[in-house]
Amino acid sequence: MHARAVAATTTALLGAAALLLPAPAALAGAERPTIIAHRGASAYAPENTLAAVDEAAELGISWVENDVQRTKDGELVVLHDDNLKRTTDVEEVFPDRAPWKVKDFTAAEIAHLDAGSWFGPGYAGERVPTLEQFMDRVELHHQKLLLEIKNPDLYPGIERQTLKVLGNEGWLDPDHLARRLIVQSFSADSIRTVHELKPAVKIGFLGTPPVADLSWYATFADQINPSYSSISTDYVASVHEFEGPHGGPLEVFTWTVNDADTARLVGGYGVDGIITNNPDVVRDAFPKG
Ligand code: G3P
Ligand code: CA
Repeated sequence: MHARAVAATTTALLGAAALLLPAPAALAGAERPTIIAHRGASAYAPENTLAAVDEAAELGISWVENDVQRTKDGELVVLHDDNLKRTTDVEEVFPDRAPWKVKDFTAAEIAHLDAGSWFGPGYAGERVPTLEQFMDRVELHHQKLLLEIKNPDLYPGIERQTLKVLGNEGWLDPDHLARRLIVQSFSADSIRTVHELKPAVKIGFLGTPPVADLSWYATFADQINPSYSSISTDYVASVHEFEGPHGGPLEVFTWTVNDADTARLVGGYGVDGIITNNPDVVRDAFPKG
């Protein structure tokens, strides 16, 4: 049996035991999956802001996920929704600009918006960061970035542009490529484009493709990153059977797991990473790193 399959089987058994036993005893010896702070530590600070990156760092979390889109004048910014309503005060500042799409606002306009007050008064004045600003903060903390290209169909050429920013920021050197950067998307076309433009970049596909299709995904993706509710021990084991473009077995980073019991459950499935709004809770669900 492949070493990873042995580990997954062991972890699965321990994960099943975790349902019956106190966590530390049940998972003693099991490997803690990589913990990724979803939109930063977004349970504790406004998502996709520099404050959420800082909060992840303060919690000791090295991996941060974000969502990248593009403004009207071509700046890459970090925001989840395709519009600015939920996470900024755009409706107050620009009442006549419905439906407040990111792509219809300039970077300067977006830079004036308050992206923190919706979360809590202590975050008033927090801004929507540009991708450069976000990466600078991740670099400042010596963290790692799981970068999601969000809604790529709205932004033709965003893959090449994202790679240009990554290069300008020094994130396409061997160290970042090997250990500190993954680019993911729900769009297979988008991540295939990234792979073709820069084959050295590690790639994740967001979704749960049928096992029969995994050999195709393995031609350009190193990870299959599904919703936790869509997977099982068998599915994770099937993904691990395939080898990605950079040589290792395909990995599974699952999302979005925000409580300890579910974290232990998917840990038992053998996932490689857990994407979470509560990275401290998920980390502490496992006895060791
Ligand atoms: O990284 C996984 C997760 O972010 C995908 O869903 O909607 O939060 O971008 P969403
Ligand atoms: Ca995302």
